[in-house]
Amino acid sequence: MFVLALPKGRLAEESINLLYKAKWISEKPNEKSKELAFIDSIGKLKILLVRAQDVPTYVEESAADAGIVGWDVIREGSYDLVVPISLKIGECRLSLAAKSGFDLNKYQRKLRVATKYPQLAKEYFFTKGMSCEIIKLYGSIELAPLVGLSDCIVDLVETGETLKANGLKEYDTILKSTARLIVNRSSLYTKREEMISFINDLGELDAS
Ligand code: PRP
Repeated sequence: MFVLALPKGRLAEESINLLYKAKWISEKPNEKSKELAFIDSIGKLKILLVRAQDVPTYVEESAADAGIVGWDVIREGSYDLVVPISLKIGECRLSLAAKSGFDLNKYQRKLRVATKYPQLAKEYFFTKGMSCEIIKLYGSIELAPLVGLSDCIVDLVETGETLKANGLKEYDTILKSTARLIVNRSSLYTKREEMISFINDLGELDAS
């Protein structure tokens, strides 16, 4: 049995649609179910539903043969994984955003940056020759500049609706991201046939 780790949250629905179109699953899981591991009735896949940030760990540690996760998550960590293909789902960008009137070049004091992506944010400001204080948050990042917790944020933008709703502006794109298929190194050999057909089937499809 081929084990696939899927992210709960923003990528879940698109990933499930992709698997359904590729005929690796025959039914879409019940969204209300609290079950975190299930085998589809075709019997080709066992699906594990985990937090996006945990998908690489499940695959690297051989708890799953493969996983689907955003490029942003892969770049934020450092994992020993094979990333054979980019998928045509999960398009978004990691951006610098702040209230209107913010000017990075005119900043006098140490910049306070709220983010779920401390490594990528640090790298970004480092390459600009700026020192910053990272304020690590786990969600609702857009709130931080509104309440004075940070000067700016580094966060994912997909439609831009959350920024707009909170009166924030995008100032720079740090990383463009799409979903990637990630693969466990030893499963590439031990489940070679399944792996090749899985990679081929998923690589051809888009989310529509
Ligand atoms: C993500 C991201 C932004 C939002 C962007 O949050 O961190 O807050 O989506 O999407 P948009 O550009 O389409 O509005 P998520 O939904 O993962 O929730 P979170 O606040 O728990 O991180």
